[in-house]
Amino acid sequence: MSAAEGVAPAFIAPGATLGVLGGGQLARMFAHAAQRSGYAVAVLDPDPASPAGRIAEEHLRTAYLDREGLARLADVSAAITTEFENVPAAALETLAARRPVAPAARTVAICQDRFLEKVAFVACGVPCAPHASIESQGDAAMVDAKLLPGILKTARLGYDGKGQHRVADRDGLAVAFGALGGVACVLEKQLTLVAEISVVVARDDRGAMVELPVQENLHRDGILAVTRVPAQGVAAAAQGRAIALARRVAESIGYVGVLCVEFFVLADGTLVANEMAPRPHNSGHYSIDACDLSQFDLQVRTLTGAPLVAPRLHSAAVMLNLLGELWLREGGAAVEPDWRRVLALAGAHLHLYGKREARPGRKMGHLTFTAAAAAAAQVQARSAAAILGIEGF
Ligand SMILES: Nc1ncnc2c1ncn2[C@@H]1O[C@H](COP(=O)(O)OP(=O)(O)O)[C@@H](O)[C@H]1O
Ligand SMILES: [Mg+2]
Repeated sequence: MSAAEGVAPAFIAPGATLGVLGGGQLARMFAHAAQRSGYAVAVLDPDPASPAGRIAEEHLRTAYLDREGLARLADVSAAITTEFENVPAAALETLAARRPVAPAARTVAICQDRFLEKVAFVACGVPCAPHASIESQGDAAMVDAKLLPGILKTARLGYDGKGQHRVADRDGLAVAFGALGGVACVLEKQLTLVAEISVVVARDDRGAMVELPVQENLHRDGILAVTRVPAQGVAAAAQGRAIALARRVAESIGYVGVLCVEFFVLADGTLVANEMAPRPHNSGHYSIDACDLSQFDLQVRTLTGAPLVAPRLHSAAVMLNLLGELWLREGGAAVEPDWRRVLALAGAHLHLYGKREARPGRKMGHLTFTAAAAAAAQVQARSAAAILGIEGF
């Protein structure tokens, strides 16, 4: 019997302060979940109007690598998490020297880099798209023709379809590599997708794991537009495989925290892992209203050492992202959408992130419809899309 056996694992009880690096909407929803359970929240984000900074008990308005800001965050926080993967690894490492940090800098670093992500997928036998690292025009000129037509993606800092170019041939690849600034890229074979799904898995420091039900996602212009749960367009067996693969990745990299893995579903039912996020994910927002534990509750639990209990989907859900376009209808002047009419629809849950300025493509909020059956949630979401002028729904 080892010395640790029989000793209750550390638990950070309500009343403590939880720290978060980054103050966007993900940190805001983390704060809502933490505060509801009696924790206080400290946010480090330089933006004085950041969505989470405005609701946190303490908002440290410093740069992410500011020594005093990080020291203060460590002083006040019992444990610290992050809301975005592009936080400098050095900031997480500085904090980890003083406090528990989840996810760890080492695992965040994998999710910051598309190439390292693919290495991690391959290492544990999770299929991903055929790909090659493109770091020079020489790499582009010699690339395997089997990867074309393909999608060239910057290895780092891409999101919402930014930092990507579709390329038809080697000439197009050379042009796209130049257009992306010559930074390290990954070329992926362009696959024919019949669906896109994602799995949010939470893993604690003892290796226990739970997950949300599988999400089915529709993207528009590279940005998530709609998430549906249950994922009716995908066979139950494929959903089960996606969950097993997401768990395998989390375990293989020794991940602690909330991890989202995105998958492509191909015509023959094959699953291909696309990318992963070391944090709650836009496609998991529906869980706030449709599950008895949300992805943010799970983030709080993995950070505090609370037991991980499997979330239960109690309602079918359709989530619509609310992008800045909705505010920019008439000649560029900002107009508030007609929330009154939307809120008259049964099962509507409106989430706005408190962002002051609407910009095209900016995630301003989301709208989830819950219902007893998927078809009813879909009907309500379609009505809302018509009211709001969301096209192509
Ligand atoms: N290899 C691919 N084949 C086909 N479609 C792809 C491929 N890679 C990306 N896409 C499409 O582009 C979207 C965004 O790509 P992704 O790699 O997830 O970047 P982001 O970080 O912007 O979310 C995907 O959700 C999918 O619709
Ligand atoms: Mg993606």
